[in-house]
Amino acid sequence: MSDTTGATGASPRLTAVAQTAMLVAAARLAEARRKNPVLTDELLEAMIGSSAEVIAAVRQCVQETQQQERDDGVDHVASFTSVRMKFGDCQLQHFRASHDTFQIVILGAGLDTRPWRLDLGSGVSVYDIDQPDMTNFKKDRLSAVDAQLQMDKKNHRFPLRIGGWKGVPLDLTGPWLPGLLQSGLSTDVPSVWVAEGLFYYMDQEAGSALLRTMASASTPDSMLIMTHLNHALFTASQRFIADREFPTDEKIKTFYSSWKSGMPEDVSGYLASNGWRVESQQLMSEIHKEYGVTLARWKNTTEMRRKYEPELGTLDYWVVVASPKPVVT
Ligand SMILES: C[S@@+](CC[C@H](N)C(=O)[O-])C[C@H]1O[C@@H](n2cnc3c(N)ncnc32)[C@H](O)[C@@H]1O
Repeated sequence: MSDTTGATGASPRLTAVAQTAMLVAAARLAEARRKNPVLTDELLEAMIGSSAEVIAAVRQCVQETQQQERDDGVDHVASFTSVRMKFGDCQLQHFRASHDTFQIVILGAGLDTRPWRLDLGSGVSVYDIDQPDMTNFKKDRLSAVDAQLQMDKKNHRFPLRIGGWKGVPLDLTGPWLPGLLQSGLSTDVPSVWVAEGLFYYMDQEAGSALLRTMASASTPDSMLIMTHLNHALFTASQRFIADREFPTDEKIKTFYSSWKSGMPEDVSGYLASNGWRVESQQLMSEIHKEYGVTLARWKNTTEMRRKYEPELGTLDYWVVVASPKPVVT
């Protein structure tokens, strides 16, 4: 089995967008290594914990959050992506309480490890969709650490805790549904669609098409969990890139340039026009409060917030739970 992280720990076969999955994974590992973490993830630790690049990113992330805690005088500045993941875990467990048999489709799955972490039972199958480079990288890493990939009777270091898992290499801005159906998804079984940290890497037209396709393949009792930049954050990030007032920080400008869209201001109207009824919409900052942790505000957003928040409102992320809109006949 090839080790795609290579000797230096870099991941040369991953595209820039797929690399963002490594960044959020590093943030989750940093959180897992802190006192009283929001989330621990032994499999993730094993999968990428040996990568020099990720270890360096984790170390930096831990140091930054510790420093921020000292500066702000708070006990716990939890990693954003761990709270996001924990929120999704809770929604899935809640859905499981009323459904024995369902499918979970994780779109832009990156290094999500839920099939090995969440005990949802044998009636649940999971489809991980990501770009081919990330899907192949993940399969390699899973095999390398002896995570179970299919239902067999062998003893694995990380057994599947659901009924079946498939990594499906697809581009979600293209015609992806036929490929997913071919992989086994049934349109007669309830689905929970999970899209965390994905929508802003596609333009609004592609995002809207994605929402409509998911709705078209859903039973009435299916569910969608999605996150997106709020309108203020997306608008501010794009102004910031072009704003001569700010010194050029190529890294952060490149990062914001990879964002292609944000959630329109009318969240429920936008979702409704693409086949979904909003059940709940919360800002990430509110969810952090629910989990009793203080949200880490990136230091490099301080200036951006100072300049744009008075006009645009709070720069934040939406977390939306929705159900398919009933079809009127
Ligand atoms: C920021 S990462 C989030 C990963 C994961 N959901 C998590 O929260 O850890 C974004 C992921 O979306 C994937 N992605 C972005 N655009 C995509 C597309 N058009 N088709 C499939 N996957 C895509 C990237 O490859 C990457 O793995």
